[in-house]
Amino acid sequence: MQIFADTADVEAIREAHEWGFIDGVTTNPALVAETDRSYRDIVTDLDEFVQGPINAQVVATDEDGMVEQGRKYDTWSDNIAVKIPVTQEGIKAIDRLSDEGIKTNATCLFSPVQALVAAKNGASYVSTWWGTVNDSGHDGYELVRNTREILDQYGYDTEIIVASVRDTRHIVKSARIGADIITVPPWVFGMLWDNPLTNQSLDNILSEWGDRGDPTVDPS
Ligand code: E4P
Repeated sequence: MQIFADTADVEAIREAHEWGFIDGVTTNPALVAETDRSYRDIVTDLDEFVQGPINAQVVATDEDGMVEQGRKYDTWSDNIAVKIPVTQEGIKAIDRLSDEGIKTNATCLFSPVQALVAAKNGASYVSTWWGTVNDSGHDGYELVRNTREILDQYGYDTEIIVASVRDTRHIVKSARIGADIITVPPWVFGMLWDNPLTNQSLDNILSEWGDRGDPTVDPS
């Protein structure tokens, strides 16, 4: 399973990158707006150290505008995936950009049938918004599970990104049902390893070890 950082905060991504397990980045215009930086500056910075996909989302809502913005994003980095919402116009833009060999990520996606049409039109990724689906009183787990089943049934190589992640339960369940990627916001990063039992166990072990010093140095 790949883990992406779900933020436009370059310093947060840089720090996460140093932990060694971040495989790519997802951004959207709302996240970029929080930074007071240009979308291009952020992507350019990320391109210097992110090895995997850098997802940038269009703001145009018409097919031609989406295609034009997608083509421009694609010139900013060799790793761009263009995020396009699954609307009638978006589906057409995904089809065109995919035909041009530009990676696309079908986003704002809340039903398996939206994932099916995005996959049919060649989307590289479908972003299933688990947390937002839960917020609306439906079941994010079922969205991801049904999408997995449908894509597998017909052999689409479109990868499933689980987005709108709120806690580690989403991550564990996503991994169990075979999501390809989970994209994690910075406020969830710490939850990936933080466990009070780990700290307590470590305290106990170090307390038992006491003042014996460095175990790699033979006692004199
Ligand atoms: C990712 O593609 C989305 O932009 C993001 O995960 C949405 O998360 P939110 O529902 O917490 O805003």
